[in-house]
Amino acid sequence: MSMRSQARLGRLDRAARIGLHLAEDLKGGDFENFAPAQLPATAPDDDPGLEVELAGTGEILPLRPGQSVLDVLRTCGHDVESSCEAGTCGACRTRVLEGDVDHQDFVLTDDEQRDWMMVCVSRPRKGRIKIDLDPA
Ligand code: FES
Repeated sequence: MSMRSQARLGRLDRAARIGLHLAEDLKGGDFENFAPAQLPATAPDDDPGLEVELAGTGEILPLRPGQSVLDVLRTCGHDVESSCEAGTCGACRTRVLEGDVDHQDFVLTDDEQRDWMMVCVSRPRKGRIKIDLDPA
């Protein structure tokens, strides 16, 4: 299976979960999504060395293949709000100052994607991105 089709399957899986969420809302039933986001794993040879730089501290956090930005932030001791962890609720919205983001969420508009990302599912497209966990 190619990386492109794996990414497509991940999007389809998230879309299916959103459909379940909406169906439960329409029925008036309670629904909570406990499934973590499934990020496409990158083969080590294809890993372009993705990194996240934190504004303010200058801390640089390398991402392992398939690791979410949310996960690396928590692993390094940063407290980031989240809820769905599938790119559907907006709770983990984070300011992006620099870099090219591969947006995988279902929340942000095209305009919003210029300055924000959902760290539970979106990652740098290449190289390093700079984010601000405490925007003024
Ligand atoms: S935790 Fe819901 S969009 Fe990230």
